[in-house]
Amino acid sequence: MIQQLIVLACMLGANLALDNGLALTPPMGFMSWERYRCIVDCVNYPNECISEKLFKKVADLIVSEGYADVGYEYVIIDDCWPAHQRDAEGKLQPNATRFPSGLKHLSDYIHSKGLKFGLYEDYGNYTCGGYPGVLGHLETDANSFAAWGVDYVKLDGCYAKYADMQEGYIEFGNYLNKTGRPMVYSCSWPAYMNATQVDYEVLQKTCNSWRNYDDIADSWGSVVAIMNWFGKEQDLIARHAGPGHWNDPDMLIVGDYGLSYDESKAQMAVWAVLAAPLLLSVDLAAVAPRFKAILQNRDVIAVNQDPLGVQGLRVSQVNNIDVWTRCVTPKVGSECSYAVAIVSRRTDGNPVLVSYVLKDIGLNNSAGYNFTELYDGTKMVLSSPNATLVTRVNPSGVAFYKATAIVV
Ligand SMILES: *[C@@H]1O[C@H](CO)[C@@H](O)[C@H](O)[C@H]1NC(C)=O
Ligand SMILES: *[C@@H]1O[C@H](CO)[C@@H](O)[C@H](O)[C@H]1NC(C)=O
Ligand SMILES: *[C@@H]1O[C@H](CO)[C@@H](O)[C@H](O)[C@H]1NC(C)=O
Ligand SMILES: *[C@@H]1O[C@H](CO)[C@@H](O)[C@H](O)[C@H]1NC(C)=O
Ligand SMILES: *[C@@H]1O[C@H](CO)[C@@H](O)[C@H](O)[C@H]1NC(C)=O
Ligand SMILES: *[C@@H]1O[C@H](CO)[C@@H](O)[C@H](O)[C@H]1NC(C)=O
Ligand SMILES: *[C@@H]1O[C@H](CO)[C@@H](O)[C@H](O)[C@H]1NC(C)=O
Repeated sequence: MIQQLIVLACMLGANLALDNGLALTPPMGFMSWERYRCIVDCVNYPNECISEKLFKKVADLIVSEGYADVGYEYVIIDDCWPAHQRDAEGKLQPNATRFPSGLKHLSDYIHSKGLKFGLYEDYGNYTCGGYPGVLGHLETDANSFAAWGVDYVKLDGCYAKYADMQEGYIEFGNYLNKTGRPMVYSCSWPAYMNATQVDYEVLQKTCNSWRNYDDIADSWGSVVAIMNWFGKEQDLIARHAGPGHWNDPDMLIVGDYGLSYDESKAQMAVWAVLAAPLLLSVDLAAVAPRFKAILQNRDVIAVNQDPLGVQGLRVSQVNNIDVWTRCVTPKVGSECSYAVAIVSRRTDGNPVLVSYVLKDIGLNNSAGYNFTELYDGTKMVLSSPNATLVTRVNPSGVAFYKATAIVV
């Protein structure tokens, strides 16, 4: 009887989440889509086309520019890498002009830098860019991925039937598992449906991360739309995040064309609070120093990578100023420390003075908190939940604090 109970407990435990030992904190790395899209014209755009040359350069820069030192590790090729035809044996193959040495060679190169290799495919007849999808070839393609030394799989959902997607993603995940090679499995099917149509219990058993919502574009408007969606749906989605299984609001666009300095700090802060994968999508050779400092801010990254793995919540929305909080370590008894992001969606001129009584935003530790602003280092001690946090926040900007719970 006891043995049966133990077996049952193990089965229940194993069923709570995908158990491949990966992504115990949100994955960090580089993903090509937002910045490089489907540029395949290497004649006119030799430094930007989806090619072996680009991804070797990305791997080099992740190391030489200091990104690897702060935790970025996956180099992920998004769409438009395959040849238009499978080979004579029905296997996927990369475009031979753009990947002349093949994917195993590129994977070895990336691994030689101490990094990990990610690759995109699609659970449909075609990828979104019109290249061969995995439908009808699930086992063959999972085996190819393993043979190429892939460490992270992004499986998109274009050209697939909605009704088939959940079962199809489970099936492909089982083939990935059968290869014996641990691969982070990033799923896209929720992004093709409304949040209420997704079975999040199944999702977190199947995937290490999943795209919930629209692709990010290179603009503040896009960042705001994503933040609004994650706030609106948080009661449905946030509790399904945790070590090994994460909601994914899509890539970082910090350092690209669309965000100001303040907007960049805001995206990074909210992505940290959301326990989001941190996936750079930028020309790593051209990131201006103060934007690079945002992407490499160790304190902000520590919030994102906090071992509790709790996704944060939007706890206040007044006059287009939002407050997001995330429970983080160190805990004092049952009380959390918090990351607190005060985000302005306003665009009307001056920095705005805002104030919050701590207990009104859920910060109830009886001895209060030591606050540190994570971008400028400002410190203050607020020693009761009745104390008031007063700060200024710039238009389309953020004030981002770590509030460390004080031990009585
Ligand atoms: C490889 O990509 C080039 C564009 O860079 C394209 O012209 C060519 O048709 C592609 N080859 C295959 C076999 O898909
Ligand atoms: C994929 O292609 C097969 C063969 O052409 C076809 O039978 C099937 O309906 C297609 N599936 C989807 C989801 O378009
Ligand atoms: C395959 O799944 C089993 C059971 O969940 C798990 O223990 C194992 O680590 C997985 N292996 C890989 C390579 O993902
Ligand atoms: C999601 O909901 C919207 C609005 O209710 C609806 O128009 C749309 O068709 C739904 N999408 C899916 C995939 O069912
Ligand atoms: C903090 O205290 C307030 C009121 O005192 C209460 O409404 C809220 O639920 C508490 N929050 C947490 C996270 O315990
Ligand atoms: C907070 O204020 C309330 C009344 O406003 C008081 O009852 C409570 O003791 C105060 N808490 C602390 C920790 O000072
Ligand atoms: C809070 O700050 C005070 C004063 O700077 C310091 O003495 C104390 O050790 C800090 N406590 C925590 C938990 O960080």
